[in-house]
Amino acid sequence: MTALRYFAPCPRGLEQSLAAELTALGATVEAAVGGGVAFGGDHATGYLANLHSRFASRVLLRVAEGSYRDDDDLYRLANRCEWERWFDVRRTLRVDVAAMRSPLRSLNFATLRIKDGAVDRFRTRTGARPSIDTEQPDVRIFGFLDERTAVLYLDLSGEPLFKRGWRTERDDKGEAPLKENLAAGLLALAGWTPEQPLYDPFCGSGTIVIEAAQQALGIAPGLSRRFGFQNLLDFDSSLWAQLHSDAVRKVQAGAGAQQLRIAASDIDGRALEQVSRNAQRAGLPPDALRVERCNVLDARPPFDAPGMIVTNPPYGERLELRAASGAPDGPEAWNGVGRAFKERFNGWRLWILTSDPALPRQLGMKARRRTPLFNGSIECRLFGFEIFAPGQAPRRPGT
Ligand SMILES: C[S@@+](CC[C@H](N)C(=O)[O-])C[C@H]1O[C@@H](n2cnc3c(N)ncnc32)[C@H](O)[C@@H]1O
Repeated sequence: MTALRYFAPCPRGLEQSLAAELTALGATVEAAVGGGVAFGGDHATGYLANLHSRFASRVLLRVAEGSYRDDDDLYRLANRCEWERWFDVRRTLRVDVAAMRSPLRSLNFATLRIKDGAVDRFRTRTGARPSIDTEQPDVRIFGFLDERTAVLYLDLSGEPLFKRGWRTERDDKGEAPLKENLAAGLLALAGWTPEQPLYDPFCGSGTIVIEAAQQALGIAPGLSRRFGFQNLLDFDSSLWAQLHSDAVRKVQAGAGAQQLRIAASDIDGRALEQVSRNAQRAGLPPDALRVERCNVLDARPPFDAPGMIVTNPPYGERLELRAASGAPDGPEAWNGVGRAFKERFNGWRLWILTSDPALPRQLGMKARRRTPLFNGSIECRLFGFEIFAPGQAPRRPGT
């Protein structure tokens, strides 16, 4: 086994879920740090992480490391690295740098020096230089700087992994869609498993329910997309073909194995059309999701057995619920949502991702769990509630 060292960034708050997922894929987890997981493995480990990880944002391969004090040290580090082993000079390139407590004044300049170091190495060795393409590069290099150490990574993912390949630019972004890996994180933190009924009453473009249905049917998140490692010189196409066809076989085993109980609704009819198109492109059979247009205030349990509501309602500037005519709008409307849940969803568990710490109070419900998470740069909480019909909340000692 070739020992390779990887780092997979992920949304903050999902590090432990990602570490467990990578371990299950056969990786040796070295450390879960803020915003990602360092792990080791062989070639196949990197391919498998790209193909199967639901939580990672990317998979990066560690190719160089050194201490640095100034930008020239970064140039020398990048210039020493054997890039020609990894990619052809005709490939286009992009370099990105992130830093924590770096003494350098300009990250842009640090990025430029790393780029120069890599490009100059090609020029002295081959007489040619790779061109830079910041939009759609064939190869990406990531630099990570802490106080004294610089690490260079080759990106094996290309497009970030939350892009599962089913969302189109044209019309299916919806209103503030969640990233797919954060949606997977909500399901994992909620403890959802495919046997449990699932409902998202603010479904938007359907990210949470599509992610759940893919899991239930064994559809690997990376099954229908390309990866950065396919552009590298060491790309092992027969290993990849084998891992990919194993994943295709798993879908066939998953199809029909489950009678899914996954439902979605939204007040906006256009969102529901998006859900149907997205679900189809995500490889779901036509009856996998139960989809309905409905104001949350009128929502009813979509299945007989109680299950889980996992949802990401409008928040921030979009706090106003679009209320039915005559119903209150704004924060008071949340009280109506809380009442509707308590009256009709007795025995369900409710998980809400929101940036609004006042939401539990507005719902009139007491959160049993609150997990900090980041939706992009927005600090959020995933609040977990148990729903009881009015007057049915169990008496707990001391309450
Ligand atoms: C933040 S978006 C959800 C995004 C979704 N998680 C996704 O990934 O696409 C909130 C959704 O709530 C819907 N919404 C707003 N008011 C509603 C109401 N009263 N009843 C049901 N849905 C509502 C909006 O139409 C919007 O699609």
